[in-house]
Amino acid sequence: MSQEAPEKTFTLTNDQTGESMKLPVKDGTIGPSVIDVRKLYAETGHFTFDPSFTATGSCKSRLTYIDGEEGILLHRGYSIEDLAENSTFLEVAHALLYGDLPNAKEKEAFEREITYHTMVHEQVHLFYRGFRRDAHPMSVMCGVVAALSAFYHDSLDIWDPKQRELSAHRLIAKIPTLAAMTYKYSIGQPFMYPRNDLSFSENFLYMCFGVPAEPYRMSPVLADAMDKIFILHADHEQNASTSTVRLAGSSQANPFACIAAGIACLWGPSHGGANQAVLEMLEEIGSKDRIPEFIEKAKDKDDPFRLMGFGHRVYKNFDPRAGVLKKAADDVLNDLGIDDPMLEVAMELERIALEDPYFVERKLFPNVDFYSGIILRAMGFPTSMFTVLFAVARTVGWISQWKEMIEEPSLRIGRPRQLYTGPAARPYVPIEDRD
Ligand code: ACO
Repeated sequence: MSQEAPEKTFTLTNDQTGESMKLPVKDGTIGPSVIDVRKLYAETGHFTFDPSFTATGSCKSRLTYIDGEEGILLHRGYSIEDLAENSTFLEVAHALLYGDLPNAKEKEAFEREITYHTMVHEQVHLFYRGFRRDAHPMSVMCGVVAALSAFYHDSLDIWDPKQRELSAHRLIAKIPTLAAMTYKYSIGQPFMYPRNDLSFSENFLYMCFGVPAEPYRMSPVLADAMDKIFILHADHEQNASTSTVRLAGSSQANPFACIAAGIACLWGPSHGGANQAVLEMLEEIGSKDRIPEFIEKAKDKDDPFRLMGFGHRVYKNFDPRAGVLKKAADDVLNDLGIDDPMLEVAMELERIALEDPYFVERKLFPNVDFYSGIILRAMGFPTSMFTVLFAVARTVGWISQWKEMIEEPSLRIGRPRQLYTGPAARPYVPIEDRD
Protein backbone atom coordinates (compact mmCIF):
# COMPACT_ATOMS: atom_id res chain seq x y z
CA MET A 1 0.00 0.00 0.00
CA SER A 2 1.44 3.37 -0.99
CA GLN A 3 1.84 5.90 1.80
CA GLU A 4 0.87 9.49 1.13
CA ALA A 5 3.65 11.99 1.85
CA PRO A 6 2.79 14.19 4.85
CA GLU A 7 1.59 17.65 3.92
CA LYS A 8 4.46 20.14 4.09
CA THR A 9 3.82 23.19 6.21
CA PHE A 10 5.45 26.41 7.26
CA THR A 11 4.87 27.66 10.79
CA LEU A 12 4.29 31.34 11.33
CA THR A 13 4.49 32.69 14.87
CA ASN A 14 3.13 36.01 16.08
CA ASP A 15 5.86 37.42 18.36
CA GLN A 16 3.33 39.59 20.24
CA THR A 17 0.78 36.91 21.13
CA GLY A 18 2.92 33.80 20.80
CA GLU A 19 0.15 32.25 18.65
CA SER A 20 1.27 30.25 15.67
CA MET A 21 -0.34 28.82 12.57
CA LYS A 22 0.73 26.28 10.01
CA LEU A 23 0.60 27.36 6.40
CA PRO A 24 0.58 24.72 3.65
CA VAL A 25 3.70 24.57 1.46
CA LYS A 26 3.17 23.63 -2.20
CA ASP A 27 5.82 22.23 -4.53
CA GLY A 28 6.05 22.89 -8.25
CA THR A 29 7.74 20.57 -10.76
CA ILE A 30 10.98 22.51 -10.38
CA GLY A 31 11.86 25.79 -8.70
CA PRO A 32 11.13 27.23 -5.26
CA SER A 33 8.14 25.96 -3.30
CA VAL A 34 5.46 28.43 -2.25
CA ILE A 35 3.80 29.11 1.08
CA ASP A 36 0.04 29.15 0.54
CA VAL A 37 -1.14 32.25 2.43
CA ARG A 38 -4.74 32.23 1.21
CA LYS A 39 -6.12 31.54 4.70
CA LEU A 40 -3.75 33.98 6.41
CA TYR A 41 -6.15 36.92 6.65
CA ALA A 42 -9.11 34.82 7.74
CA GLU A 43 -7.07 33.16 10.49
CA THR A 44 -4.76 35.99 11.64
CA GLY A 45 -6.33 39.24 10.45
CA HIS A 46 -3.08 40.11 8.64
CA PHE A 47 -2.35 40.62 4.95
CA THR A 48 1.04 39.94 3.38
CA PHE A 49 2.86 43.05 2.10
CA ASP A 50 4.78 42.73 -1.17
CA PRO A 51 4.18 45.85 -3.32
CA SER A 52 6.41 44.95 -6.26
CA PHE A 53 5.65 41.22 -6.02
CA THR A 54 9.25 40.22 -5.39
CA ALA A 55 8.18 37.27 -3.23
CA THR A 56 4.68 36.53 -4.48
CA GLY A 57 3.49 33.76 -6.76
CA SER A 58 0.25 35.03 -8.27
CA CYS A 59 -0.85 31.84 -10.03
CA LYS A 60 -0.06 28.24 -10.95
CA SER A 61 1.24 27.92 -14.49
CA ARG A 62 2.55 25.14 -16.75
CA LEU A 63 3.89 27.42 -19.48
CA THR A 64 7.24 28.92 -18.61
CA TYR A 65 9.95 28.31 -16.05
CA ILE A 66 12.73 30.76 -15.22
CA ASP A 67 15.72 30.20 -12.96
CA GLY A 68 17.17 33.68 -12.76
CA GLU A 69 20.21 32.63 -10.74
CA GLU A 70 21.26 30.00 -13.29
CA GLY A 71 20.08 31.90 -16.38
CA ILE A 72 17.57 29.20 -17.42
CA LEU A 73 14.39 29.79 -19.43
CA LEU A 74 12.12 26.89 -20.39
CA HIS A 75 8.84 26.93 -22.32
CA ARG A 76 6.78 23.80 -21.63
CA GLY A 77 10.08 22.24 -20.53
CA TYR A 78 12.04 23.06 -23.71
CA SER A 79 15.08 25.31 -23.28
CA ILE A 80 14.93 28.68 -25.02
CA GLU A 81 18.30 27.97 -26.65
CA ASP A 82 16.93 24.74 -28.23
CA LEU A 83 13.77 26.45 -29.36
CA ALA A 84 15.61 29.41 -30.88
CA GLU A 85 18.07 27.11 -32.63
CA ASN A 86 15.65 24.48 -33.97
CA SER A 87 12.06 25.74 -33.95
CA THR A 88 9.95 28.30 -35.70
CA PHE A 89 7.97 30.98 -33.91
CA LEU A 90 4.68 29.28 -34.76
CA GLU A 91 5.92 25.95 -33.36
CA VAL A 92 6.76 27.76 -30.10
CA ALA A 93 3.34 29.43 -30.21
CA HIS A 94 1.75 25.97 -30.56
CA ALA A 95 3.74 24.68 -27.59
CA LEU A 96 2.72 27.63 -25.41
CA LEU A 97 -0.92 27.48 -26.44
CA TYR A 98 -1.44 23.71 -26.43
CA GLY A 99 1.29 22.30 -24.17
CA ASP A 100 3.55 20.64 -26.72
CA LEU A 101 5.50 21.21 -29.90
CA PRO A 102 3.32 20.20 -32.86
CA ASN A 103 3.93 17.04 -34.88
CA ALA A 104 4.22 17.51 -38.65
CA LYS A 105 0.44 17.29 -39.21
CA GLU A 106 -0.39 19.61 -36.31
CA LYS A 107 2.25 22.07 -37.47
CA GLU A 108 0.76 22.27 -40.94
CA ALA A 109 -2.77 22.66 -39.57
CA PHE A 110 -1.73 25.35 -37.08
CA GLU A 111 0.21 27.33 -39.69
CA ARG A 112 -2.77 27.12 -42.06
CA GLU A 113 -5.13 28.28 -39.31
CA ILE A 114 -2.96 31.29 -38.34
CA THR A 115 -2.33 32.21 -41.98
CA TYR A 116 -6.07 32.10 -42.66
CA HIS A 117 -6.64 34.83 -40.06
CA THR A 118 -3.91 37.30 -41.04
CA MET A 119 -6.19 39.86 -42.72
CA VAL A 120 -8.04 42.43 -40.64
CA HIS A 121 -11.57 43.68 -41.23
CA GLU A 122 -11.42 46.37 -43.91
CA GLN A 123 -13.07 48.89 -41.55
CA VAL A 124 -10.05 48.59 -39.25
CA HIS A 125 -8.11 50.52 -41.91
CA LEU A 126 -10.24 53.56 -41.16
CA PHE A 127 -9.07 53.59 -37.55
CA TYR A 128 -5.59 54.46 -38.65
CA ARG A 129 -6.73 57.57 -40.46
CA GLY A 130 -7.89 58.99 -37.12
CA PHE A 131 -4.35 58.97 -35.73
CA ARG A 132 -1.66 61.58 -36.29
CA ARG A 133 1.07 60.19 -38.54
CA ASP A 134 3.66 61.07 -35.88
CA ALA A 135 1.81 59.24 -33.08
CA HIS A 136 3.95 56.77 -31.14
CA PRO A 137 3.25 53.34 -32.70
CA MET A 138 2.46 51.89 -29.26
CA SER A 139 -0.35 54.42 -28.78
CA VAL A 140 -1.79 53.32 -32.12
CA MET A 141 -1.43 49.64 -31.14
CA CYS A 142 -3.22 50.21 -27.80
CA GLY A 143 -6.14 51.68 -29.73
CA VAL A 144 -6.47 49.33 -32.70
CA VAL A 145 -5.97 46.12 -30.71
CA ALA A 146 -8.64 47.15 -28.18
CA ALA A 147 -10.88 47.98 -31.17
CA LEU A 148 -10.67 44.38 -32.45
CA SER A 149 -13.32 43.39 -29.90
CA ALA A 150 -15.70 45.66 -31.83
CA PHE A 151 -15.18 43.53 -34.96
CA TYR A 152 -15.08 39.92 -33.87
CA HIS A 153 -18.30 39.50 -31.89
CA ASP A 154 -18.42 35.80 -32.77
CA SER A 155 -15.42 34.99 -30.56
CA LEU A 156 -16.09 37.01 -27.40
CA ASP A 157 -17.77 34.33 -25.26
CA ILE A 158 -14.88 33.43 -23.01
CA TRP A 159 -16.70 30.36 -21.62
CA ASP A 160 -16.86 28.68 -25.03
CA PRO A 161 -13.56 26.84 -25.71
CA LYS A 162 -14.02 27.12 -29.50
CA GLN A 163 -14.46 30.89 -29.28
CA ARG A 164 -11.48 31.19 -26.95
CA GLU A 165 -9.37 29.33 -29.47
CA LEU A 166 -10.65 31.43 -32.37
CA SER A 167 -9.80 34.64 -30.48
CA ALA A 168 -6.32 33.31 -29.70
CA HIS A 169 -5.69 32.44 -33.36
CA ARG A 170 -7.05 35.78 -34.51
CA LEU A 171 -4.82 37.69 -32.12
CA ILE A 172 -1.64 35.78 -33.03
CA ALA A 173 -2.44 36.21 -36.75
CA LYS A 174 -3.66 39.80 -36.80
CA ILE A 175 -1.24 41.56 -34.45
CA PRO A 176 1.61 41.39 -37.02
CA THR A 177 -0.73 42.84 -39.65
CA LEU A 178 -1.73 45.66 -37.31
CA ALA A 179 1.90 46.27 -36.31
CA ALA A 180 2.98 46.51 -39.97
CA MET A 181 0.05 48.81 -40.76
CA THR A 182 1.07 51.01 -37.83
CA TYR A 183 4.55 51.32 -39.32
CA LYS A 184 3.30 51.94 -42.86
CA TYR A 185 0.91 54.61 -41.64
CA SER A 186 3.70 56.40 -39.76
CA ILE A 187 5.81 56.69 -42.93
CA GLY A 188 2.93 57.47 -45.28
CA GLN A 189 3.20 54.30 -47.37
CA PRO A 190 0.25 52.14 -48.47
CA PHE A 191 -0.74 49.21 -46.27
CA MET A 192 0.48 45.87 -47.63
CA TYR A 193 -2.03 43.03 -47.42
CA PRO A 194 -0.59 39.84 -45.89
CA ARG A 195 0.81 37.13 -48.17
CA ASN A 196 -0.21 33.66 -47.15
CA ASP A 197 2.53 31.93 -49.14
CA LEU A 198 5.14 33.34 -46.74
CA SER A 199 6.11 32.18 -43.27
CA PHE A 200 4.96 34.18 -40.24
CA SER A 201 8.20 36.20 -40.00
CA GLU A 202 8.70 36.55 -43.77
CA ASN A 203 5.17 37.85 -44.13
CA PHE A 204 5.77 40.34 -41.34
CA LEU A 205 8.93 41.71 -42.98
CA TYR A 206 7.10 41.84 -46.31
CA MET A 207 4.18 43.80 -44.81
CA CYS A 208 6.66 46.23 -43.20
CA PHE A 209 9.20 46.74 -45.96
CA GLY A 210 7.43 45.68 -49.17
CA VAL A 211 5.82 48.27 -51.46
CA PRO A 212 3.23 47.68 -54.19
CA ALA A 213 5.49 49.24 -56.84
CA GLU A 214 8.11 46.48 -56.92
CA PRO A 215 8.77 42.89 -55.83
CA TYR A 216 10.11 42.46 -52.30
CA ARG A 217 13.45 40.66 -52.03
CA MET A 218 13.41 38.50 -48.93
CA SER A 219 16.67 37.97 -47.01
CA PRO A 220 16.63 34.52 -45.37
CA VAL A 221 19.10 35.79 -42.74
CA LEU A 222 16.79 38.65 -41.76
CA ALA A 223 13.72 36.40 -41.76
CA ASP A 224 15.57 33.93 -39.55
CA ALA A 225 16.71 36.68 -37.15
CA MET A 226 13.16 38.08 -37.03
CA ASP A 227 11.82 34.64 -36.18
CA LYS A 228 14.44 34.26 -33.43
CA ILE A 229 13.54 37.64 -31.95
CA PHE A 230 9.89 36.58 -31.91
CA ILE A 231 10.75 33.22 -30.28
CA LEU A 232 12.90 34.89 -27.62
CA HIS A 233 10.12 37.31 -26.69
CA ALA A 234 7.19 34.88 -26.87
CA ASP A 235 6.64 34.45 -23.14
CA HIS A 236 8.36 35.25 -19.90
CA GLU A 237 6.36 33.95 -16.98
CA GLN A 238 4.44 36.43 -14.78
CA ASN A 239 6.14 39.70 -15.82
CA ALA A 240 4.32 43.05 -15.54
CA SER A 241 2.41 42.91 -18.84
CA THR A 242 1.47 39.24 -18.47
CA SER A 243 0.24 39.88 -14.95
CA THR A 244 -1.73 42.82 -16.36
CA VAL A 245 -3.34 40.54 -18.96
CA ARG A 246 -4.19 37.98 -16.28
CA LEU A 247 -5.61 40.60 -13.93
CA ALA A 248 -7.71 42.15 -16.70
CA GLY A 249 -8.82 38.67 -17.75
CA SER A 250 -9.76 37.71 -14.20
CA SER A 251 -12.63 40.19 -14.42
CA GLN A 252 -13.85 38.17 -17.44
CA ALA A 253 -13.01 40.99 -19.87
CA ASN A 254 -12.77 39.82 -23.50
CA PRO A 255 -9.35 38.66 -24.77
CA PHE A 256 -8.86 41.55 -27.22
CA ALA A 257 -9.34 44.06 -24.37
CA CYS A 258 -6.97 42.04 -22.15
CA ILE A 259 -4.21 42.00 -24.77
CA ALA A 260 -4.66 45.77 -25.27
CA ALA A 261 -4.08 46.14 -21.50
CA GLY A 262 -0.91 44.07 -21.86
CA ILE A 263 0.30 46.29 -24.69
CA ALA A 264 -0.26 49.40 -22.56
CA CYS A 265 1.83 47.91 -19.74
CA LEU A 266 4.57 46.73 -22.10
CA TRP A 267 5.04 50.27 -23.36
CA GLY A 268 6.91 51.44 -20.24
CA PRO A 269 10.71 51.87 -20.41
CA SER A 270 11.25 49.53 -17.45
CA HIS A 271 9.62 46.74 -19.48
CA GLY A 272 9.14 46.52 -23.25
CA GLY A 273 10.15 50.11 -23.88
CA ALA A 274 13.69 49.27 -22.83
CA ASN A 275 14.86 48.21 -26.32
CA GLN A 276 13.91 51.64 -27.64
CA ALA A 277 15.59 53.24 -24.63
CA VAL A 278 18.81 51.26 -25.34
CA LEU A 279 19.12 52.74 -28.81
CA GLU A 280 18.30 56.23 -27.60
CA MET A 281 20.98 55.85 -24.94
CA LEU A 282 23.55 54.60 -27.47
CA GLU A 283 22.72 57.56 -29.71
CA GLU A 284 23.15 59.92 -26.77
CA ILE A 285 26.50 58.37 -25.84
CA GLY A 286 27.55 58.71 -29.49
CA SER A 287 31.19 57.62 -29.26
CA LYS A 288 33.33 55.23 -27.24
CA ASP A 289 35.22 57.98 -25.44
CA ARG A 290 32.02 59.18 -23.74
CA ILE A 291 31.20 55.77 -22.22
CA PRO A 292 33.04 56.34 -18.89
CA GLU A 293 30.97 59.50 -18.33
CA PHE A 294 27.73 57.51 -18.75
CA ILE A 295 28.97 54.64 -16.59
CA GLU A 296 29.62 57.18 -13.80
CA LYS A 297 26.13 58.65 -14.27
CA ALA A 298 24.61 55.15 -13.99
CA LYS A 299 26.44 54.57 -10.71
CA ASP A 300 25.51 57.94 -9.22
CA LYS A 301 22.68 57.45 -6.73
CA ASP A 302 21.61 61.09 -7.13
CA ASP A 303 21.25 60.69 -10.89
CA PRO A 304 18.14 58.82 -12.12
CA PHE A 305 20.03 57.64 -15.24
CA ARG A 306 20.32 53.86 -15.59
CA LEU A 307 22.26 51.92 -18.16
CA MET A 308 19.40 50.74 -20.38
CA GLY A 309 19.58 47.11 -21.46
CA PHE A 310 21.39 46.08 -18.27
CA GLY A 311 19.89 44.35 -15.28
CA HIS A 312 16.76 42.30 -14.88
CA ARG A 313 14.33 41.74 -12.04
CA VAL A 314 14.65 37.96 -12.32
CA TYR A 315 17.92 37.18 -14.11
CA LYS A 316 20.89 37.60 -11.83
CA ASN A 317 23.05 35.82 -14.40
CA PHE A 318 23.42 36.24 -18.17
CA ASP A 319 19.93 36.42 -19.70
CA PRO A 320 19.88 33.22 -21.85
CA ARG A 321 17.98 35.10 -24.55
CA ALA A 322 20.73 37.70 -24.74
CA GLY A 323 23.28 35.00 -25.63
CA VAL A 324 21.19 33.80 -28.59
CA LEU A 325 20.61 37.34 -29.82
CA LYS A 326 24.25 38.33 -29.54
CA LYS A 327 25.00 35.71 -32.22
CA ALA A 328 21.98 36.69 -34.33
CA ALA A 329 23.17 40.32 -34.19
CA ASP A 330 26.54 39.26 -35.63
CA ASP A 331 24.84 37.28 -38.45
CA VAL A 332 22.51 40.13 -39.40
CA LEU A 333 25.25 42.75 -39.41
CA ASN A 334 27.50 40.51 -41.53
CA ASP A 335 24.67 39.74 -43.95
CA LEU A 336 23.81 43.39 -44.38
CA GLY A 337 27.45 44.43 -44.40
CA ILE A 338 26.69 47.07 -41.82
CA ASP A 339 29.51 48.82 -40.10
CA ASP A 340 27.55 50.75 -37.51
CA PRO A 341 29.45 53.03 -35.08
CA MET A 342 26.56 52.54 -32.66
CA LEU A 343 27.45 48.88 -32.53
CA GLU A 344 31.00 49.72 -31.56
CA VAL A 345 29.66 51.83 -28.70
CA ALA A 346 27.37 48.95 -27.69
CA MET A 347 30.17 46.36 -27.67
CA GLU A 348 32.49 48.61 -25.69
CA LEU A 349 29.73 49.38 -23.20
CA GLU A 350 29.05 45.68 -22.78
CA ARG A 351 32.76 45.01 -22.19
CA ILE A 352 33.16 47.75 -19.59
CA ALA A 353 29.93 46.96 -17.74
CA LEU A 354 30.83 43.25 -17.51
CA GLU A 355 34.11 44.20 -15.80
CA ASP A 356 33.07 47.16 -13.64
CA PRO A 357 32.64 46.12 -9.96
CA TYR A 358 29.40 48.17 -9.63
CA PHE A 359 27.71 46.05 -12.33
CA VAL A 360 29.45 42.80 -11.41
CA GLU A 361 28.47 43.03 -7.71
CA ARG A 362 24.86 43.82 -8.55
CA LYS A 363 24.75 41.12 -11.23
CA LEU A 364 23.68 43.62 -13.90
CA PHE A 365 24.21 41.66 -17.12
CA PRO A 366 23.12 42.78 -20.59
CA ASN A 367 19.49 41.73 -21.09
CA VAL A 368 17.62 40.69 -24.23
CA ASP A 369 16.76 44.29 -25.09
CA PHE A 370 20.37 45.27 -25.36
CA TYR A 371 20.89 43.10 -28.46
CA SER A 372 17.40 43.10 -29.96
CA GLY A 373 17.59 46.89 -30.41
CA ILE A 374 20.81 46.56 -32.41
CA ILE A 375 19.33 43.89 -34.72
CA LEU A 376 16.09 45.75 -35.28
CA ARG A 377 17.95 48.94 -36.13
CA ALA A 378 20.07 47.05 -38.66
CA MET A 379 16.90 45.61 -40.21
CA GLY A 380 15.63 49.13 -40.80
CA PHE A 381 13.01 49.49 -38.06
CA PRO A 382 12.83 52.91 -36.40
CA THR A 383 13.36 52.78 -32.64
CA SER A 384 9.74 53.72 -31.97
CA MET A 385 8.69 50.38 -33.54
CA PHE A 386 10.86 48.21 -31.29
CA THR A 387 8.32 47.78 -28.51
CA VAL A 388 5.63 47.04 -31.09
CA LEU A 389 7.68 44.08 -32.33
CA PHE A 390 8.00 42.88 -28.75
CA ALA A 391 4.20 43.08 -28.49
CA VAL A 392 3.80 41.00 -31.69
CA ALA A 393 5.82 38.20 -30.12
CA ARG A 394 4.46 38.49 -26.58
CA THR A 395 0.86 38.27 -27.78
CA VAL A 396 1.48 34.53 -27.99
CA GLY A 397 2.50 34.37 -24.33
CA TRP A 398 -0.26 36.71 -23.18
CA ILE A 399 -3.03 34.80 -24.90
CA SER A 400 -1.64 31.42 -23.79
CA GLN A 401 -1.48 32.65 -20.18
CA TRP A 402 -4.97 34.12 -20.48
CA LYS A 403 -6.32 30.81 -21.86
CA GLU A 404 -4.63 28.83 -19.08
CA MET A 405 -6.19 31.14 -16.48
CA ILE A 406 -9.71 30.99 -17.93
CA GLU A 407 -9.49 27.18 -18.06
CA GLU A 408 -8.59 27.07 -14.34
CA PRO A 409 -11.76 25.96 -12.46
CA SER A 410 -10.86 28.09 -9.42
CA LEU A 411 -10.79 31.35 -11.44
CA ARG A 412 -11.74 34.35 -9.29
CA ILE A 413 -11.27 38.04 -9.94
CA GLY A 414 -7.79 39.22 -8.86
CA ARG A 415 -8.05 41.70 -6.01
CA PRO A 416 -4.89 42.65 -4.09
CA ARG A 417 -5.23 44.42 -0.75
CA GLN A 418 -3.10 47.20 0.72
CA LEU A 419 -1.43 48.72 3.76
CA TYR A 420 -3.47 51.87 4.30
CA THR A 421 -1.33 54.84 5.40
CA GLY A 422 -3.79 57.71 4.88
CA PRO A 423 -5.70 59.56 7.62
CA ALA A 424 -7.95 57.57 9.95
CA ALA A 425 -11.69 58.37 9.92
CA ARG A 426 -12.26 62.06 10.71
CA PRO A 427 -15.28 64.39 10.80
CA TYR A 428 -16.35 66.24 7.64
CA VAL A 429 -15.47 69.96 7.89
CA PRO A 430 -17.84 72.47 6.20
CA ILE A 431 -15.96 74.73 3.73
CA GLU A 432 -16.37 77.87 5.85
CA ASP A 433 -14.62 76.18 8.79
CA ARG A 434 -11.60 74.87 6.80
CA ASP A 435 -8.17 76.51 7.35
N1 ACO B 1 21.97 50.81 -14.40
C1 ACO B 1 22.52 51.20 -13.22
N2 ACO B 1 22.19 50.67 -12.04
C2 ACO B 1 21.25 49.72 -12.01
C3 ACO B 1 20.63 49.27 -13.19
C4 ACO B 1 21.02 49.84 -14.42
N3 ACO B 1 20.48 49.45 -15.57
N4 ACO B 1 19.73 48.32 -12.89
C5 ACO B 1 19.77 48.16 -11.56
N5 ACO B 1 20.71 49.01 -11.02
C6 ACO B 1 21.12 49.08 -9.62
C7 ACO B 1 20.08 49.80 -8.75
O1 ACO B 1 20.34 51.18 -8.66
C8 ACO B 1 20.28 49.07 -7.43
O2 ACO B 1 21.46 49.58 -6.83
P1 ACO B 1 21.57 49.64 -5.20
O3 ACO B 1 21.41 48.24 -4.73
O4 ACO B 1 22.90 50.24 -4.97
O5 ACO B 1 20.41 50.52 -4.77
C9 ACO B 1 20.58 47.64 -7.83
O6 ACO B 1 21.19 47.75 -9.14
C10 ACO B 1 19.37 46.75 -7.88
O7 ACO B 1 18.40 47.37 -8.73
P2 ACO B 1 16.83 47.27 -8.53
O8 ACO B 1 16.23 48.57 -8.95
O9 ACO B 1 16.49 46.73 -7.19
O10 ACO B 1 16.50 46.16 -9.58
P3 ACO B 1 15.07 45.83 -10.08
O11 ACO B 1 14.99 44.35 -10.09
O12 ACO B 1 14.00 46.56 -9.34
O13 ACO B 1 15.09 46.44 -11.55
C11 ACO B 1 15.21 46.67 -13.87
C12 ACO B 1 15.20 45.70 -12.69
C13 ACO B 1 13.94 47.57 -13.85
C14 ACO B 1 15.18 45.87 -15.17
C15 ACO B 1 16.50 47.54 -13.79
O14 ACO B 1 17.65 46.71 -13.81
C16 ACO B 1 16.58 48.59 -14.88
O15 ACO B 1 15.99 49.67 -14.73
N6 ACO B 1 17.28 48.28 -16.02
C17 ACO B 1 17.33 49.18 -17.12
C18 ACO B 1 16.05 49.05 -17.92
C19 ACO B 1 15.99 47.78 -18.73
O16 ACO B 1 16.92 47.40 -19.41
N7 ACO B 1 14.80 47.13 -18.67
C20 ACO B 1 14.57 45.91 -19.43
C21 ACO B 1 14.14 44.81 -18.54
S1 ACO B 1 14.08 43.33 -19.43
C22 ACO B 1 12.59 43.27 -20.18
O17 ACO B 1 11.64 43.93 -19.85
C23 ACO B 1 12.47 42.33 -21.31
